[in-house]
Amino acid sequence: MKISVIGTGYVGLVTGVCFAELGNEVICVDVDKEMVDKINSSITTIYEDGLEEMLKKHMTRGNLRATTDLREAVEKTDVSFISVGTPSGLMDYIDLKYVEKVTRDIGKILKDKEGYHLMVVKSTVVPGTTEHSVLPILERYSGKKAGKGFGVAMNPEFLREGKAIEDFMNPDRIVIGGIDEKSTDILLELYKDFKCQIMKTNPKTAEMIKYATNSFLATKISFINDIGNICKQLDIDAYEVAKGMGMDSRISPKFLNPGIGFGGSCFPKDVKAIVGKAKEVYYKPAILNAALELNELQPLKLIELLERNIGFLKGVDITILGLAFKPGTDDMREAPSIKIITSLLMKGARVHATDPKALNEARKIFGEHERLKLYDDPMEAVKKSKYIMIVTEWDEFKREELYKGKVVIDGRRVDEAKVAEYYEGVCW
Ligand code: NAD
Ligand code: UGA
Repeated sequence: MKISVIGTGYVGLVTGVCFAELGNEVICVDVDKEMVDKINSSITTIYEDGLEEMLKKHMTRGNLRATTDLREAVEKTDVSFISVGTPSGLMDYIDLKYVEKVTRDIGKILKDKEGYHLMVVKSTVVPGTTEHSVLPILERYSGKKAGKGFGVAMNPEFLREGKAIEDFMNPDRIVIGGIDEKSTDILLELYKDFKCQIMKTNPKTAEMIKYATNSFLATKISFINDIGNICKQLDIDAYEVAKGMGMDSRISPKFLNPGIGFGGSCFPKDVKAIVGKAKEVYYKPAILNAALELNELQPLKLIELLERNIGFLKGVDITILGLAFKPGTDDMREAPSIKIITSLLMKGARVHATDPKALNEARKIFGEHERLKLYDDPMEAVKKSKYIMIVTEWDEFKREELYKGKVVIDGRRVDEAKVAEYYEGVCW
């Protein structure tokens, strides 16, 4: 199939490269010229395991390329996936400006394009967006009728950063919310080689499945952190408790790791967005609000524990192991490290931070700060202080020699750190 993918961030680039891998002809589109130039030089603008090799392969074969020219991309393809960002807006409502802008632009292009075109929303959008926003905008700007001149579908993405290719290629399920049979059938054809379950539904249910899934996973994490915080007070190891709980097949051991909470570009923003959507129908989701509230302060538990041990942190050197919101990515959006470092700096500590991939992101976020130093080598970072906080569980930090003779406060259960002179976990 001939496919265009609009927005070449984490989801868009992975989607484009993986569809190319599956034998399609793909054009990726982004407004960011520098990003497009890099992709065309086979350089990925994000860190994702295996992505650059696959990008190179398909650039060389010629079945994948990038452009800033949306018109050319839409005219030369049969299906367009929208994968632009959907950030939090005012009062936690979703901000749809990027989706709406692309939709208007595509509508204008469809006005002149002969033949049928399928528009697929892959961005995470609140229920109703595809049918009540995307579809009418397309009709208005193209002058064509949905279902006749063009098709529309919502096809949420469930990939995790750091495992993006694996998740895209081997999903647990694919959800297709087409406005009609023709839109759905095109996506069924595109996904025909996938072995997983494929669920067909309407667009707003597809949209809600995405939010319900992310909200459930985020709540599961906040739930185990709630239990973990009680365990900590009762001198019980929350990991042992989670292990015992996870043996119940109804619960499962996945997403049951207590620690300093969830970060990333999606869980915080998506839970907020569905809470925001619920406001429109005069409903206040108690459980989802509690999951967000608990997550707000969970990273700061690391600081609370260190303060309890050594008192004031003013003038104290502290090493932070991990800046990315999770291992396997350079993404620092809503990373717990941001809250922890900001709070330590406010308290007057000197921070020595290291991460295998996210140092450039950290430079953008923190800029120059006389009490914040960043290190490539974790050994160099730990040499600077007696006190270590483990914030991201990178394999690079699973080395006993980093911790010998140190005081370690662990937010992510790195067992190798237990050789430290003093070791304490956030929920254990
Ligand atoms: P991102 O911010 O990494 O990328 C978005 C890209 O869209 C940027 O490169 C931006 O320049 C581009 N863009 C913005 N306006 C454009 C326009 N008019 N034309 C062309 N390009 C444009 O975002 P992301 O993390 O890839 O997320 C995209 C969507 O997918 C969001 O809705 C997100 O919630 C959802 N999602 C993300 C993940 C994830 O792991 N990051 C997983 C599942 C779903
Ligand atoms: C998450 C979902 O897992 C994906 O299915 C979804 O597609 C994506 O959001 C999205 O919509 O963007 P991602 O944010 O990449 O993926 O990362 P996760 O592996 O889910 O981790 C999210 C956060 O939760 C991380 O900060 C991680 O450290 C934390 N976490 C995860 C825990 O604290 N405990 C756990 O048991 C699991």
